Amino acid sequence: MTTTNQSRMAARYGDPEASALATGNDTIDQLLDHRSVRAFSAEPLPDGLMETLVAAAQSAASSSNLQVWSVVAVRNTDRKARLSALAGNQAYIRQAPLFLVWLADLSRVSRVAEQQHAELHALPYLESLLLGTIDASLAAQNAVVALESLGLGSVYIGAIRNDIEGVAKELGLPAHVYPVFGLCVGYPSIELPAKVKPRLPQAAVLHHETYAAEPESAAVATYDQRLGAFYQREGMRANGWSEQVVNRLRDTSNLHGREHLVEQLIRMGFGLR
Ligand SMILES: Cc1cc2nc3c(=O)[nH]c(=O)nc-3n(C[C@H](O)[C@H](O)[C@H](O)COP(=O)(O)O)c2cc1C
Repeated sequence: MTTTNQSRMAARYGDPEASALATGNDTIDQLLDHRSVRAFSAEPLPDGLMETLVAAAQSAASSSNLQVWSVVAVRNTDRKARLSALAGNQAYIRQAPLFLVWLADLSRVSRVAEQQHAELHALPYLESLLLGTIDASLAAQNAVVALESLGLGSVYIGAIRNDIEGVAKELGLPAHVYPVFGLCVGYPSIELPAKVKPRLPQAAVLHHETYAAEPESAAVATYDQRLGAFYQREGMRANGWSEQVVNRLRDTSNLHGREHLVEQLIRMGFGLR
């Protein structure tokens, strides 16, 4: 059975009645099909994969073309195990054949300036951290789209920020570099296939001309019900989204160390003025 645009929209929004998109193509179909993959097969990765992913990543836009990001490709089993221990012991970091650590990298521009005996007065600001973080995120997402087009799967690992100094030590990162997130990469397990997780109705995220919060509560109520039904179908605890959001954000302990990011970033050479 072919998957139609309507069935993709139905899965994306958890709404069997979702309308098909009036404008669509194969690229959009692939984007709609995204799901995080947390179980990988033993199938080896294709030759030249890293070059392909990095070319896709480098094709993303970059603020002022500063290209203030880098990526470390980790395949070594012991190093993946140590990174997993630093990132909440998530098993798929160990299981995935490839673990990418995406970096906001302000060290390269600092070295370029050093060679020119120039001081970068515009560098020690929060803006630089955002530049690196945004560049790394756009690059990584391009790589995710590319790898999904090759039949591979991935899951981002924000928990790599639980201890950015520990990760920096493990990866030999210089000053002015911090790990934004990790990405487990591999062929998805056939036995444990990942499912498309529904998103908020568009009424909650799309505003026309000016911000309108009014449609939100109905949209969130609808989503609570749809996401709960999704979890129930998947045999998981059927919390609604609002409950999940509050559970995740009500308590600092859920930051798992990330509440100390500012102090760690400062020690790692970031000026956050
Ligand atoms: C920046 C970022 C960090 C994430 N960190 C983790 C993580 O540490 N562990 C994990 O299992 N999933 C992580 N995820 C995956 C999200 O949980 C997932 O994208 C979300 O639940 C939506 O599911 P989907 O990607 O399957 O659509 C992360 C996603 C992003 C974008």
